[in-house]
Amino acid sequence: MEIRRYRDGNQVAWAAAELFVDAAARSIHARGRFNVALAGGSTPRALYANLAVDPFRKQVDWPNVHLFWGDERCVAPDHADSNYHMARETLIDHVSIPAGNIHRMQGELEPEAAAKAYGLLLKDYFNNAKSGGFDLVLLGMGEDGHTASLFPHTSVLNEMKHRCAAVYVDKLAAWRITLTATMINTAHQICFMVTGENKARTLRDVLRGPHQPDHLPAQSIHPVSGDIIWMVDEPAASLL
Ligand code: 6PG
Repeated sequence: MEIRRYRDGNQVAWAAAELFVDAAARSIHARGRFNVALAGGSTPRALYANLAVDPFRKQVDWPNVHLFWGDERCVAPDHADSNYHMARETLIDHVSIPAGNIHRMQGELEPEAAAKAYGLLLKDYFNNAKSGGFDLVLLGMGEDGHTASLFPHTSVLNEMKHRCAAVYVDKLAAWRITLTATMINTAHQICFMVTGENKARTLRDVLRGPHQPDHLPAQSIHPVSGDIIWMVDEPAASLL
């Protein structure tokens, strides 16, 4: 595990864009494609906006990039809360990714059906791509230690068989679709982006505190054979 500290969120977003470009170049050179799972929420917006313009946009071989999602809200793809909608607005509409390379979670479906469909999509895709998992998974972290939609004390935390699951989040009174920790941990590289003083206590507990992944699900993320990088700004890292 590597922790990289940056002055502020803009520097995190710039560094994450550099990591994305490097990972894409390496994966496409090695296997002809780059399989990346995008994070939702607000933190990654700045990263996606960086990738949507030069100098980063021209450095990525977009036609060979395949986009997936770490999680999705159970809303329509054009809903303001949709992680797909956010990525569409900030990145997809500005780069030349073929529509067939965009593998979104279908938040408009009944949750269990959406999770099952995405699990099958991942199974088929990675069986054919002859690669066990994602080249890169981008993740954020909530103040409660959740990541993707792996929320504390939810049944999805114990899902070892499936690649994707539906979870009802009581405190949000909402359904989510999420990759399971098992699927995320198959990635060749995992990059957390955590910024803001409001995350400092949780980041300290996750990185320095006792191992309690049911309470702090971000602790369940550790790649089987890949590497994991935490990109954090100084306010978020202030208690480390
Ligand atoms: C989501 C995200 C979620 C997010 C954290 C942090 O769908 O909301 O996948 O896991 O990464 O909630 O969100 P912020 O980046 O907005 O703080």
